[in-house]
Amino acid sequence: MTGLFITLEGPEGAGKSTNRDYLAQRLRDCGLDVVLTREPGGTPLAERIRELLLTPADEPMNSDTELLLVFAARAQHLAEVIRPALARGAVVLCDRFTDATYAYQGAGRGLCLARIEQLECFVQGDMRPDLTLIFDLPVEIGLGRAAARGRLDRFEQEGLDFFEAVRSAYLGRARQVPQRYRVLDAAQSLAMVQQDLDALLPELLERARG
Ligand SMILES: Nc1ncnc2c1ncn2[C@@H]1O[C@H](COP(=O)(O)OP(=O)(O)OP(=O)(O)O)[C@@H](O)[C@H]1O
Ligand SMILES: [Mg+2]
Repeated sequence: MTGLFITLEGPEGAGKSTNRDYLAQRLRDCGLDVVLTREPGGTPLAERIRELLLTPADEPMNSDTELLLVFAARAQHLAEVIRPALARGAVVLCDRFTDATYAYQGAGRGLCLARIEQLECFVQGDMRPDLTLIFDLPVEIGLGRAAARGRLDRFEQEGLDFFEAVRSAYLGRARQVPQRYRVLDAAQSLAMVQQDLDALLPELLERARG
């Protein structure tokens, strides 16, 4: 059996976590085995790496260190959660995955894409998400939503240019491989975004049931 690997992407405050939970409920209502997870993180060890990545600290984190930590967490997450879930035929809904690495560490930090590709092949082999939902919205709206939640993490402290680069990287990747991506207008009301997700459900069900 091979399950269905769906990732949710987009900048801060785009609604990834909210809509991941919504989509999980819809798919479970249809009788599917759904595993909800997130990156960086998803296992106890990978969540400890997440803390290192997100917590602001006095010592500046070198960008290569950041990239390696992201993939170290991903290796653990794939081995312990994602691959076993897909092997038993589950739908895995993952809040952020390697597209976020291309957007944040690649476009945001300016790291070389070839190096990210090398690590992607090393850690993932040929495994890629079956489908990636990109929650797209103007940077200021997303940051406003994230700021309303309270203390800013290490990424949220970056400037507007960083997030503009992140947003265009996501949209650029979606344009390059349109069959793998669905871009949703996340600036709409939550009810409208969820209507758009409902419209995707038949396709998701068909693919999940193989
Ligand atoms: N379409 C929407 N309209 C208005 N508010 C929304 C919408 N979608 C989500 N929100 C709210 O915005 C906030 C951020 O949403 P959420 O946490 O789901 O975003 P996220 O993409 O997971 O953010 P992060 O990247 O920071 O984890 C939450 O308070 C959520 O209720
Ligand atoms: Mg979230």
